[in-house]
Amino acid sequence: MADHGVGLAGVVDECRDDVTIEPVQFHALCIPPGQAGARRGARGRLGAVPISEGIRKMSTASFPEGFVWGVSTSAFQIEGATSSDGRGPSIWDGFSADRAEACDHYHRYPEDVRLMKDLGMAAYRFSVSWARVFPDGHGKPNAAGLDFYDRLLDELAGAGITPYATLYHWDLPQALEDRGGWPSRDTAHHFADYAAAVHDRLGDRVDTWFTLNEPWVAAFLGYGSGVHAPGRKSAGDAFRSAHHMLLAHGLSVQALRSAGAAKVGAVLNISPVMTPAQVSDFDRPLSEEDAEAVARIDALANRQFLEPMLRGAYPAELLPLIERHGGLDHIQDGDLDVIAQPLDLLGVNYYTPLVVQAQPSEPADLTWPGSEGILFCTIPTAVTAMGWPIVPNCLSLLLGRISREYPDLDLMVTENGADFVDVVTGDGIHDVDRISFVEEHLRALRTAIENGARVRGYLVWTLLDNLEWADGYQRKFGLVHVDFATQRRRPKDSAFWYRDVIRRNGLTETRPKRPTLETVAARTGVSRATVSRVVNGESSVSPEVRAAVMRAVNELGYVPNLAARSLVTRRTNAIALVLSVPRQGGDTLTAAVVQYVTSLLEGAGKQITLMLADTAESHRRIVAHVEARLVDGVVLLPPDRADTLAERLSRTGAPVVLLGKPAIASLVPYVDVDNAGGASAATEHLLSRGRRRIGMVCGPTDLVTVQDRLAGHRAALQRAGLRPHLALADDLSRASGASAARRLLADDPSPDAVFAATDQLAIGVLQAARELGKRVPSDLAVVGFDDVDAASATTPALTTVRVPVADQALALARLLLSRLEGGHTTSVVLPARLVIRESS
Ligand code: FCB
Repeated sequence: MADHGVGLAGVVDECRDDVTIEPVQFHALCIPPGQAGARRGARGRLGAVPISEGIRKMSTASFPEGFVWGVSTSAFQIEGATSSDGRGPSIWDGFSADRAEACDHYHRYPEDVRLMKDLGMAAYRFSVSWARVFPDGHGKPNAAGLDFYDRLLDELAGAGITPYATLYHWDLPQALEDRGGWPSRDTAHHFADYAAAVHDRLGDRVDTWFTLNEPWVAAFLGYGSGVHAPGRKSAGDAFRSAHHMLLAHGLSVQALRSAGAAKVGAVLNISPVMTPAQVSDFDRPLSEEDAEAVARIDALANRQFLEPMLRGAYPAELLPLIERHGGLDHIQDGDLDVIAQPLDLLGVNYYTPLVVQAQPSEPADLTWPGSEGILFCTIPTAVTAMGWPIVPNCLSLLLGRISREYPDLDLMVTENGADFVDVVTGDGIHDVDRISFVEEHLRALRTAIENGARVRGYLVWTLLDNLEWADGYQRKFGLVHVDFATQRRRPKDSAFWYRDVIRRNGLTETRPKRPTLETVAARTGVSRATVSRVVNGESSVSPEVRAAVMRAVNELGYVPNLAARSLVTRRTNAIALVLSVPRQGGDTLTAAVVQYVTSLLEGAGKQITLMLADTAESHRRIVAHVEARLVDGVVLLPPDRADTLAERLSRTGAPVVLLGKPAIASLVPYVDVDNAGGASAATEHLLSRGRRRIGMVCGPTDLVTVQDRLAGHRAALQRAGLRPHLALADDLSRASGASAARRLLADDPSPDAVFAATDQLAIGVLQAARELGKRVPSDLAVVGFDDVDAASATTPALTTVRVPVADQALALARLLLSRLEGGHTTSVVLPARLVIRESS
């Protein structure tokens, strides 16, 4: 952990002479806490797959002849017109807080098809709205609803675009939800009738049919965690829904085949599952515990659907989990034979991997019933604005795996894309991050094909910015920007870039290098800091140097986007990340938060100007910098001690957000964790273990986090009718924790448990207990707070309260972005969770 401190100190040093640091350099310096140590054992490896014929001839960047390029959309997310022509309500109509007009594609489809044609798309995957075809979910089809798809297909045929129709992309008719929804078996039979009715009308023009889109999401987010429609929260319902979706798939494949459908498949979201260490080293061997954790999540997320569909059986380890959550009665004899229909094509949607590790005390949550003892980890990679880690190589990993396990199956990447914050400028939408996201995934896909994966096509998610389910319109996945006030469509740079990929059936041989600050500096012969000062508009650079830098910037194409943006939007696109002096013991967390925030804001197209607030003079300079509008907004962290910087910054009128609740009440919004709630959970845990003489080793009480943790501890004791027993540590070091503990343990009777305000203090407590010959936990239970790496490495391992570092950073970046857009924002307090280990 010491190295994190060193990392931060390195940054701090660089900041002393007011240097603006290119984020890339900062990343290298500041590595967030790594995840727990070495792992043994094994999990499936990526075996060598023979290089298929024909592909040998491909250049390093081209794709096989006939490779299918296109985009995917879904009905609810773009159509709008939710009550036109007899459409019935769907479970999604009122679920998202945003209105359901979406992109009004129902009326604007000719324009959208023209756009696709102009962009050279060969394929279009869309979904049919069940509630348009059967307003009540079943019965007599609504001809007017089918007419829409009829018109759409004609339009596509006119444009020479091949349609791929998905029958279910999550928008169940409300009438069927009212009759029990997916947990009811009837829904599967209604679905097969619906599939037949759609085929009856459209089958002459649709060659490829996909039954379901991502049944895992529909079942486990819709019926398990309830974050998706219909919003039910029951593990049993989630498993039943999943099974009935599988049954619906099998029955509808039968119906489609007997009606003469040419090709039938399904679309699954398949996420490679791995431990944090495997993200950079897929073949890394695992401990038995981690291998089991990985296998269990793989069974829940992927094999729950792959194996019934393609092998006619549920994964063996899944059945006891299903049984524990509502029983197995809904899986009837013969169901699996129906489900396992031969398929022509499997659609694979890939966005991000699932990263997990074994963690004995971890409870399961509603999204992942049966995941007890497994921790879902955040990893220190770049993320999209959605917060999804960007790991392109996982795409080749997963395509390789499916091709190996199901060698006869054709695959298609039916969704892949990214949400980034786009900036509309007078000269276009320069979404460079989306371009590199797609490009890197295409390179990974190219590698998979070269290694023998049978991938027939790639569809970007998605054509238009749209209604992203529960997240509404804030997410921007489109190649084409949509202004939802006017419905105006504007292709982003990524759309034109993708058009060129399609034209040449591949990428360019060499990755076009995005010019960096480094390139500009090298060209001009000045330091990066000087270039940075120029592009951030600082006045301390001589006119000659400024002119030379700007010349290089223009020649290299480094700034034009930025300059254009700032001209049009009056924005600099720079954000000041202001670090107050890292408090002792807090630097590791701060370093991690800084790293994530930087990555997220960069992902949103912002340049980060790192500034150190350590002296009165530096405070003055920072305020002046913000006042001069050299940045659009400020992230300040951590404002633990009472100071006035936050207030002074907010008086400049620039959006400011804080990490942690400020010491002085303020209107500036902040992101914090529920320190009081976490402390009270920790104390209640000790009470539940039968401890009654609970002491607290408390840090300096001018730290707001310490105050809040103390308050939570007191409140829990008070509810139990007990009085607090405190020892104050001078600072947050282990040594201070040990000396405070010695004082506590000298009392008579001495405590049978200690809650320490931080892990470092708690480690000091463990040390004092050892010296005094007290056994932990039998004589003395010890609980800390923060869950730093060292907490799991103590003997015995420390029970603690986990502070969700990556979530804090994500919330902080989102808060700032939404403030920049003028959004109404209030402070965010994230839950902290107890992690029970051996020390209690
Ligand atoms: C997939 C969905 C699609 C969209 C993308 C971002 O899971 O199939 O509708 O929400 O994620």
